Amino acid sequence: MSYQHIGALLLLLPSTLAASAYTSTQSQTPKDNNADCSCYVVESGDSAQSPQYFQYYRFYDFRGLDGALDTAPPLLNDTQTASEEPTWQPKLFNSEAWNHDWNIQNWGKPSTDEFPVPMNNSLANIYLGNDKDADTSYLALRTSRLDTAQQTAGEIENLQKNLMHASLRMYGRVRGSKGAVAGFFTFYDDDNESDIEILTADPKDQIRYTNQPAVGDDGNEVAAASVGPTDLARWDEWQTHRIDWLPKNSYWFLNGEQVAANTYSVPRKPSFLVLNMWSDGGEWSGEMEVGDSAEFHVQWIEMAFNTSGPYVGLDYEEEEKRKRRGAGLVEREEEGCKTVCKIDGVKTVGTPEVLDSAAVGMRVSWGLVVVVGLVSLVVGY
Ligand SMILES: *[C@@H]1O[C@H](CO)[C@@H](O)[C@H](O)[C@H]1NC(C)=O
Ligand SMILES: *[C@@H]1O[C@H](CO)[C@@H](O)[C@H](O)[C@H]1NC(C)=O
Ligand SMILES: *[C@@H]1O[C@H](CO)[C@@H](O)[C@H](O)[C@H]1NC(C)=O
Ligand SMILES: *[C@@H]1O[C@H](CO)[C@@H](O)[C@H](O)[C@H]1NC(C)=O
Repeated sequence: MSYQHIGALLLLLPSTLAASAYTSTQSQTPKDNNADCSCYVVESGDSAQSPQYFQYYRFYDFRGLDGALDTAPPLLNDTQTASEEPTWQPKLFNSEAWNHDWNIQNWGKPSTDEFPVPMNNSLANIYLGNDKDADTSYLALRTSRLDTAQQTAGEIENLQKNLMHASLRMYGRVRGSKGAVAGFFTFYDDDNESDIEILTADPKDQIRYTNQPAVGDDGNEVAAASVGPTDLARWDEWQTHRIDWLPKNSYWFLNGEQVAANTYSVPRKPSFLVLNMWSDGGEWSGEMEVGDSAEFHVQWIEMAFNTSGPYVGLDYEEEEKRKRRGAGLVEREEEGCKTVCKIDGVKTVGTPEVLDSAAVGMRVSWGLVVVVGLVSLVVGY
């Protein structure tokens, strides 16, 4: 959540203004960062398919925020119930801006024969950290192993629940002990899920790219489901990770280079973006040693996407409430792909740039799509 993001959203929600330390004088649009864009183009896949166009764009920026912790907060311990522990930084993680777009999970799962370590997610495993070397704050997701045979984990879900094809990027790194998994993935169910996973037990130059299900009904691994290239840029340093979910293909990129592709079980259901850091003692994650922990750090998240159904996602009730509160969400007629913007190779990552349509050599007409436009509201503010 950049200053812009939270600042602008708070401008929309004056009642929360006083409560926030995250206000700003900037008045850029929080979601798309360029009001002129009506669609977004990315180069993806083979030349027959490329380029790909998306209707919506969001950029979540965790850099340069106030209140970041210089050292990780204390690990959860056996006297605590992970699911009930609160956030360390309510001003950020309980702000309206955060709650509008993200949900921190606190579900748990018991142990099984296959996954011997019970795991509970906790709000206390999500925090805003500080990288002094890079001079930036970041979002941290943490997992840790307690004295007892228990694991605590961290997970956040994006609330745009109806993504239908997307290009999703994240600038992140993973650090800590073996036996954990950092995940950045689209999810509908266990058979419609497309993953980037970093296993802390893996060599630092290997990343796993998987379309689920990776295990068949017979309990055996499905070889086609997962690729795990090596010789990649080290995942314990900051890198740009990317997953492109297209109608019939999945492509994965690292620092702008395609490193994996798959046509196996490409998700077909409206999905949402999830980030997590976890372990359950199973074969995939491995088992952490008692007292160990590992963290997934994220400076920013970028989403270009289409939706199935309205832009507001599934949370109609909440949106209705916001409208009644006078937040002023307005219906607008989408103008289609009139002004094409690029999101790669731009001057400032997160700020799309208008592409000269003559240069693209094509005009895309999507017809009339009615959406509820948060973006237009912010622009008009
Ligand atoms: C996104 O939606 C637009 C409008 O329907 C369509 O033209 C475009 O091909 C879609 N993009 C993808 C990647 O499916
Ligand atoms: C458990 O953690 C809490 C919160 O950090 C702390 O107050 C408490 O002293 C810890 N208990 C033990 C036994 O370490
Ligand atoms: C995890 O959740 C289970 C079930 O709610 C609970 O019994 C257990 O104490 C929890 N463990 C931790 C560390 O929170
Ligand atoms: C997606 O979900 C549907 C309905 O649950 C299921 O039939 C399908 O096999 C899943 N996976 C894919 C890739 O479509």
